Parts: sequence; C-alpha cells; structure tokens
Amino acid sequence: MPSDLAILPTGAVLGAEIRGLNLAEPMDDHTFEAIDDAFARFGVIFFRAQHITPQQQVAFTRRFGTIEFNIFGERWSVPGAPEIVVVSNVTENGKPVGVRRAGENWHSDMCYAARPPRGTMLYAIETPALYGLPLGDTEFASAAAAWDALPDDLRQRIEGRRAVFDFTGRKRAFPPTADEIARNPPVTHPIVRTHPRSGRKCLYVMRDDCTGIEGIPAEEAEALIAALADHIVKPQFIYRHQWRPGDVLMWDNCTVQHRAIQDYDLPQRRLMHRTTMGGAAPA
Ligand code: OGA
Ligand code: MN
Repeated sequence: MPSDLAILPTGAVLGAEIRGLNLAEPMDDHTFEAIDDAFARFGVIFFRAQHITPQQQVAFTRRFGTIEFNIFGERWSVPGAPEIVVVSNVTENGKPVGVRRAGENWHSDMCYAARPPRGTMLYAIETPALYGLPLGDTEFASAAAAWDALPDDLRQRIEGRRAVFDFTGRKRAFPPTADEIARNPPVTHPIVRTHPRSGRKCLYVMRDDCTGIEGIPAEEAEALIAALADHIVKPQFIYRHQWRPGDVLMWDNCTVQHRAIQDYDLPQRRLMHRTTMGGAAPA
C-alpha cells in the first residue's frame, strides 16, 4: 500500500478525499480494499488531479463491479469506450457531445431498475467557472444519516415496506421511447435498504420515481414519499462537491442521493466521463 495514502473526511456527514494515489498506475489489492472500505463508509470518495484514459477509467470501475450500460450510453458514449457515457453541455457542429442535463432533481441512479447500479463514477475533464468561481457543483445527501435521524414510530411504520419505482414517473431530458418504456416495467424495492458492506440502513425513497407504497393507500403513500424525500435532502445531511478538472469521484447509490446544480451555461463548459458499477437487487 502506498505509504502516503490518506483518507480525508470532508467534514460533512458523508464524503472523503483520497490522497496519495495516481489512478493511472496499477493498484495492488490491499490499496483497492482500503478504497473500497472508504467507499462503503463515506458514500462518496474522490481523487483530485488525475489524468486517466477511458480504458483506465473502465478498468478501475470494473474493480467495484461489472460495468452497467444505461439508456444514455446508447446515445452518447466515448468513441472506442461504449462503457463510458459523456455527460456534458458542450456542442460540436451544433450537436450535443453528451447528455446535457443529467440529474437536476434529487435521485439515485436507475432506481427504476430491478438491479440498480451499486455506484457511479464521474471523471471531470472540463468544469465550468465564472470569475474564478466554480459552477456546476453536485450535491449529495446521506440517506443513511437521514434514516438514523428518523423518530422510532416512523421507522416502525416504514421498515419492511416496499415502494413501486416507475421509470415513467420522472420527467427526463429526453422523453423515453416506447421501447425503453417496455424494457423498464415498474419494479418494487424496500424503502429501507441495508448497505451490504457498511451494514447501515438507508432510506430509499425519492419523488417521481417512487409512485406508491405497498399496503398504504395511494394518497397517504404520496404524502409519505414526499415527506421522506424532503427529509433526506435536509442541509445537515448534505455534502456539496465543487468540481475541479482532474477529479475522479464516485458515489454509492444506496447510501446517497444526488443532484446536479444547473447554474451555468455555454460558454462555460462542463465535460465528464461517467461509468456505472453493477449492483444487486436492493435488500
Ligand atoms: C449522473 C448525475 C450529476 C452531475 O451522472 O448520474 O446525476 O452533476 N450527474 O453531473
Ligand atoms: Mn445521477
């Protein structure tokens, strides 16, 4: 393990920076284990000042789980690297080079899938700024800390319940095709998940994607989903990441929810390479 490896918690309830590693170099299993542990513990980890190729990003992502392909990748992947989705506001010859408005509202990636991805990784190549002030932050909310803060009677009320997650519930940047809708029928997941590594309980509820809770009348379920979704994203549960070019950051889709802050526009450019790591059905 490199002797200068350091894990620096952000000071918020989630997130840590990992220093002393060059992700373009081979990584031994001990070092990887330390990173994987930090990932489970902090929910978000990031490495600054990296320079990695698409192949290196894919190989690093693969150590956390099989690569997942998603609906965006079918439209915007990196040439020669179908595993990487381009997230960007940049246009070339009048055409967007990537998916532009990824995740403006609070969400957990692909929660509408039977097996949502364990985690998602973004490699920041260009990040927007104005007058030297960074723009285009990403906010992360700890669904684990949010669970910890729930009163006992509410915990008892929701534990063991399942919610319906519906792909068509959320308005997307690009309206899904009939084929995509057919391939993503509604699924159910527990609204209180247990993280397979950290053992922490995490709320798994969000507006729009969650369309109902089994065993609770529709109107009441709607109110409960809204109340829980709002609870998760309270300021005390949030870490806000200010991007710098060269950041490699990953989040755990069980422990955290996230949203992109859309406070910039061209000529401020934002260009990210995104990979997702496969996961199991939430339990
Ligand atoms: C995503 C996402 C947020 C961002 O890629 O899943 O939500 O800030 N991105 O780009
Ligand atoms: Mn997302």
